[in-house]
Amino acid sequence: MVHTVLCVVGARPNFMKVAPIIKAIKATDTLQAKLIHTGQHYDQKMKHTFFDQLGIVEPDIDLEVGSGSHAQQTAEIMKRFEPVLDEENPDVILVVGDVNSTIACALVAAKKGVPVIHVEAGLRSYDREMPEEINRVLTDQISDLLFTTESHAQNNLAREGIDTGRVYFVGNVMIDTLLGQLEKAVSPRQTLKGHMDDKQIEEGNYALLTLHRPSNVDDEKILKKLLQALTDISRTIPIVFPVHPRTASFIERYDLDALFSANENFIRLEPQGYLEMLGLMSKARIVFTDSGGIQEETTALGVPCITIRENTERPITLTEGTNTLVGTDTEKLRAVFDETIATGGKAGKVPEKWDGAAAERIVSIISDWLAARARA
Ligand code: UD1
Repeated sequence: MVHTVLCVVGARPNFMKVAPIIKAIKATDTLQAKLIHTGQHYDQKMKHTFFDQLGIVEPDIDLEVGSGSHAQQTAEIMKRFEPVLDEENPDVILVVGDVNSTIACALVAAKKGVPVIHVEAGLRSYDREMPEEINRVLTDQISDLLFTTESHAQNNLAREGIDTGRVYFVGNVMIDTLLGQLEKAVSPRQTLKGHMDDKQIEEGNYALLTLHRPSNVDDEKILKKLLQALTDISRTIPIVFPVHPRTASFIERYDLDALFSANENFIRLEPQGYLEMLGLMSKARIVFTDSGGIQEETTALGVPCITIRENTERPITLTEGTNTLVGTDTEKLRAVFDETIATGGKAGKVPEKWDGAAAERIVSIISDWLAARARA
């Protein structure tokens, strides 16, 4: 008997998590995958390049919800997802990560008695001001099967009363994608054509910056302070900055554009595709970020990462990887940057089970679990 797994994606970081899972499902004769995109991210740059580059088919269904307040976006996804769930009648739904699409679809399914699988469960920043933290806690509470990426996650879930019999430590699907795509990464020389001379790129003599967390970009004072500190740093090493649309709109609103236009060492780019980002990351001397995924990807690549956040839900990148937290303290940012340039940064090692086979482990467990349910 073939069981149907309805996989949900919504925002950019979801795409690279779902891609290896769909591939692994296709390789079985017990499961089939359907892919639904909520449309939380809808820009071409935020969406299509990912489907093309990651070799996953276009979604079977697109809910086209677009942007809105958290309540509006979450509610809209729920309203549009419910009839699709009725129509598709899958054996199980699979959600990844911590975005609004994750909790919205999980909640609809759980209330209809459709089992929910959460990939990347149990991560906690213990910061309830992060919208993603609320999404994580709630999704885990209503999931039937929980797959974790690192050892800390199991303890977090146990502390919240989640039956550890439903929790499996399988490793990191995003690293499956990274390892699978690394050879195809677009050379930074191509991405930075016309912005930087080839020699600088070859020597990995640039820093890569991403910034999009509401806590860093929505507030004028904080965004200005961070961009000013980074402008100073760009005098030591050129900074390449692919700008997320959320950040772009605040830069414009607060009139901070002059920081870039006046400074040829601060290179502003449009949001990049996955393979371009992978190329930029792998050759960077240092990465500044507030993204969750990039903390993990730099750890897997062995590239030093300075995270502009007070906390992280991915502590293994600190204890074993190349990551250092600096918060929004710009003096600390500068000090850790100087030290990293002087010493080469934390050596780090690749965490357990970040080996490219997480999706296979996940799919094998799902297949057995659904077969056991069917027999019961
Ligand atoms: C979302 C996720 C965040 C993830 C990030 C990665 C939630 C709560 N947040 O944040 O965890 O790290 O995606 O990118 O789900 N916009 C566009 N085009 C798009 C999408 C968004 O222009 O395709 C603009 C809109 O102005 C929108 C804003 O970006 O209002 C924010 O988008 P939204 O999806 O609400 O949250 P992100 O900040 O992208």
